[in-house]
Amino acid sequence: MTQGAAEPKKVLVCVHHRLTDAKPSCGARGGRRIAELLTAEVARRGLPIPVELFICFGQCERGPNVRLAPGGVFFHGVTAERIEEIVVAISAFLEQPAEGR
Ligand code: FES
Repeated sequence: MTQGAAEPKKVLVCVHHRLTDAKPSCGARGGRRIAELLTAEVARRGLPIPVELFICFGQCERGPNVRLAPGGVFFHGVTAERIEEIVVAISAFLEQPAEGR
């Protein structure tokens, strides 16, 4: 990457799914469904940002987790009812100037 270039903006959705119940995971709490809903809504609105699957932010107790990167809002306890809220935040995030490196 060229020095000074901004990191591309993206939506990260944790879909990590632990096979045991010893510790919670976003995947076990519906993270993959959240990723599908967000991907569909971002596409429906024509928002120019990728929605990417992510494996663990280290915030497992608070999942499902969604993060706007780089440096955007970190959503916890995401449900299907919060997709609209997140898409509104994505729109605002896209209007912010990119962070330089
Ligand atoms: S499993 Fe999603 S933050 Fe750890």
